[in-house]
Amino acid sequence: MASIAAVLDNNSAITRRYGPGLVAVFVGGTSGIGESTARAFIRNTDASHAYLVGRDQARAAEIIRELQQMKPDAQITFIKSDVSLLREVDDACSLIQRNEDKVNILFLSPGIGTMKGRDETDEGLDRKLNLHYYSRMRFVQNLLPQLVKGADITRATESQPSLSRVVSVLEAGSEAAMNLDDLSLKTHYSLRNCAKHAITMNSVSMEHLASHYPQVSFIHSFPGIVRTRLNRDLGTVAKCAVNALVAIAKPWEIPFNESGERHLYAAASPTFPPLAYKDSSIDPAEGSDGRNGSGFYRLSSDGSTYKPSKIMERYRAEGVRSLIWNHTVSVFAHVHNKVSV
Ligand SMILES: NC(=O)c1ccc[n+]([C@@H]2O[C@H](COP(=O)([O-])OP(=O)(O)OC[C@H]3O[C@@H](n4cnc5c(N)ncnc54)[C@H](OP(=O)(O)O)[C@@H]3O)[C@@H](O)[C@H]2O)c1
Repeated sequence: MASIAAVLDNNSAITRRYGPGLVAVFVGGTSGIGESTARAFIRNTDASHAYLVGRDQARAAEIIRELQQMKPDAQITFIKSDVSLLREVDDACSLIQRNEDKVNILFLSPGIGTMKGRDETDEGLDRKLNLHYYSRMRFVQNLLPQLVKGADITRATESQPSLSRVVSVLEAGSEAAMNLDDLSLKTHYSLRNCAKHAITMNSVSMEHLASHYPQVSFIHSFPGIVRTRLNRDLGTVAKCAVNALVAIAKPWEIPFNESGERHLYAAASPTFPPLAYKDSSIDPAEGSDGRNGSGFYRLSSDGSTYKPSKIMERYRAEGVRSLIWNHTVSVFAHVHNKVSV
């Protein structure tokens, strides 16, 4: 567990550790956990550049105005994008790539709290599963060249190490067995399956990527209960039920600003190094959960890592990890071909 004092102390040392001019992309940075982490990032860094990706231009303008007042040397750019569509993810990434050689932090928290059933976009994917999984991985896949540059291991020194990290905020710790014959839930859709598939595919794919990109750390976090705007699309009854649950859970609620500082800690603390900075005698194939030779970590709301997950161990042993990444890449190719014809 990381105490809040240790978290704040670590965050205040970010510029000393990595230097000024860090670049961070916050997909879902216009509200909730993404917004609070973007605010913590600007507060704790110098001459940095943050991208806020979302749809709500008015909220973005308000956040940017406040942050710019607090840190005039920061550059904050809003990218208006409906990331429930992979083609819009590609456009947002192209814009970032035109401006930046490197990305140090890719922070992924786009999401919706809908109780609707399968809601298919014109790309043939469920909107919620896409926001919680496919579009996040599409951002990662597109921005990997910039993340690898962010790592710049050849230029990093012990006194000034490099930073290259992907953080996906969903529900690490709740990985469960999936329907492997219907990963995108064409015929087995339910809210429970959607949550299960999004959570487990996030963890399995990020573990896979961590073993292929040893310069980059990958983190899947469970934020705990944070009062955000996640319930805004719910109907009146569901909204009342969620509000009642949040009221009951008040003693466990994580305040908005604390959540941002804790997620910035996840995104920049040296506690979560990539594989390249770990003991090279450890076989990366064995590692998971950041315990052994892996640069992938599953974090709980207090910043500690979860015990290894049984289902992930089984999936690793049975080769399911590659199956899931191959499925993801083939979904991307299928959507891309549909868009280009
Ligand atoms: N809050 C909690 O207690 C909690 C607990 C467990 C897990 N989580 C998970 O954490 C993640 C973040 O949740 P949050 O509480 O921060 O929610 P939030 O306050 O509703 O923020 C969600 C963000 O996603 C963006 N977004 C939603 N749909 C989008 C779309 N189609 N295109 C582009 N951006 C879109 C929103 O931006 P725009 O409005 O600008 O489009 C907003 O910035 C979610 O995946 C949620 O399931 C949250």
